[in-house]
Amino acid sequence: MLTDPFNRRIEYVRLSVTDRCDLRCQYCMPEGFRDFEEPEHWLDFDEIERVMATFGRLGVSRIRLTGGEPLVRKDLPALANRLARLPGIEDLSLSTNATRLAKHAGELRRAGISRLNVSLDSLRADRFKEITRGKLSRVIDGLMAARAAGFAPIKINMVVMQGVNDDETGDMVEFCLEHGFTLRFIETMPMGDTGREASNRYKSLQEVRQELGRRYPLIPGVMPGGGPARYVQVEGTELRIGFITPISQHFCETCNRVRLSVDGTLYLCLGQDDRLELRPLLRAGASDAELEQAIRDAIARKPERHEFRDRPEQVVRFMSMTGG
Ligand code: 5AD
Ligand code: SF4
Repeated sequence: MLTDPFNRRIEYVRLSVTDRCDLRCQYCMPEGFRDFEEPEHWLDFDEIERVMATFGRLGVSRIRLTGGEPLVRKDLPALANRLARLPGIEDLSLSTNATRLAKHAGELRRAGISRLNVSLDSLRADRFKEITRGKLSRVIDGLMAARAAGFAPIKINMVVMQGVNDDETGDMVEFCLEHGFTLRFIETMPMGDTGREASNRYKSLQEVRQELGRRYPLIPGVMPGGGPARYVQVEGTELRIGFITPISQHFCETCNRVRLSVDGTLYLCLGQDDRLELRPLLRAGASDAELEQAIRDAIARKPERHEFRDRPEQVVRFMSMTGG
């Protein structure tokens, strides 16, 4: 079992399988961004499987595939298949922008992924294009294909930005009610230059919750999952709405996760630079016992909390490197 010095049990790994993306969300990646990881630095599927098997032996039971956009990585369903079978791994999920989901939903579902998070910040095509530089209809098609393929739950993640899309929270509630999706609102985080720039349009979710509370009867405190979202339910419906508030109310006390980037760097906190470089160990022929020990030693260095509020200049890497 992996427990850190703050008595937090680490049972969840967010695995970024690529730092590339076919979108350029304003708050995530700069438009002309080209500074991607070299392919020879990418962990290959054997290396990823080995690291995840090691985590499985250390008590990790949940893996989320993330990016960049994970479906940009070739043969992702084959990797999913391998990870779903690992001893100890009970839950394999995927975070995606859904642009390629219409094509891949069926095989991903068959590969053993059941839970899906989809980023969607606007339901208006022109605005969606402005925020992401992408095409809304592809995302909607992807979502419908995912639902038809039997993914459950499907969670919509909306980054709420003042003056950009904060007038659409009600529309998003209606959309999720209609299609049976779970909805989660996220506060903008100052990750990289883009995230800091977008933080000028930061909107507190406490406000969003009050606004929605005037329109819908909200029952607090439902579904306290393993994650950072605080949920309410819309009375008389199945709809759950989560609020992820890294800025206005941080939730580091219950952090249960670490993040592995595509180049084999294990980041111990989303908002800090503390890390373990696993690629050199893997490529130097480290034994299983050595890998286990290196991971245990790293977890012993996991920071207590992020400092997005006090030191927003802190995080130099872009969200696309560690997938949120
Ligand atoms: N702040 C908050 N959320 C972000 N994401 C990407 N960059 C940021 C940021 N600066 C979100 C995306 C997606 C997930 C991968 O991370 O919208 O839901
Ligand atoms: Fe791509 Fe996700 Fe970043 Fe948008 S937030 S550019 S979809 S990685």
